[in-house]
Amino acid sequence: MNSPVRVSEPLAHLDDWEESLRARYPAASSEKKREEFRDYRKEARPSVKEFYRLNHRFQTLDFVLAKKREYLPLQKRKMGIWEAMEYLNTLVDDSDPDTDLSQIEHLLQAAEAIRADGHPRWFILTGLIHDLGKILCLYGEPQWAVVGDTFPVGCGYSDKVVFSEFFADNPDNMEPKYQTECGTYSEGCGLDHVHLSWGHDEYLYHVVKDYLPEPGLYMIRYHSFYPAHTEGAYGQLMNDHDRAMFRWVRAFNPYDLYSKAAARPDVETLRPFYEELIAEYFPPVLAW
Ligand SMILES: [Fe+2]
Repeated sequence: MNSPVRVSEPLAHLDDWEESLRARYPAASSEKKREEFRDYRKEARPSVKEFYRLNHRFQTLDFVLAKKREYLPLQKRKMGIWEAMEYLNTLVDDSDPDTDLSQIEHLLQAAEAIRADGHPRWFILTGLIHDLGKILCLYGEPQWAVVGDTFPVGCGYSDKVVFSEFFADNPDNMEPKYQTECGTYSEGCGLDHVHLSWGHDEYLYHVVKDYLPEPGLYMIRYHSFYPAHTEGAYGQLMNDHDRAMFRWVRAFNPYDLYSKAAARPDVETLRPFYEELIAEYFPPVLAW
């Protein structure tokens, strides 16, 4: 498992980022309680550390605006949801096919855990699709522009962002107007007016925003925003509606992080249920 650390793609497996989240935020029921977890940064793998170094160095406001201009017209592909799941499944990285789950199996695991707890159908569907934005990797985006905890750009960095010391090398760090508490934003402006670091959350939100109930859209758009939903940072940019909706984002988080250790789902057996659920909310083809 000692893959060499590559310059632009340090993670051997895209899911290594989520594995690092589970190490940083162990489940309440886990033996390794959070308070026992002394210093995540010291224990993080070199590949994960290198991943965050690149992420914090290159996610500038200009970068985010450029990616939004590139992707948000949604002119890359036309696909249905299941087709997008199969497309994401073509993501080839260094995972072991005998022990590691495929991307479709990961998505089904999260959805099945939500379903098993008796949540509404839109919630199950949100679990199924929440990581489809990772197809950004298949368009050639580097890992640091697809996954990783998200954070606002264009305002001061919170020390609640993991490895926040790496922001010292971000060019925005030299711009005083970006480094006040609210930066280019106004206090309480609401997250819809805030640019977060670019990645799979924001991209998928724009693909599905006309089709899902708002709590599901918040789960998709902010599920990687750990500095806010888990660390409580950036409250100065949120409004009351964001705060109400973040209850849903927090309700979703355990399914994102901890459902992935369960047994391998049987894709073909589950497929009819999920095809029907997808058709309930989405048109046969969406713009990506
Ligand atoms: Fe995700």
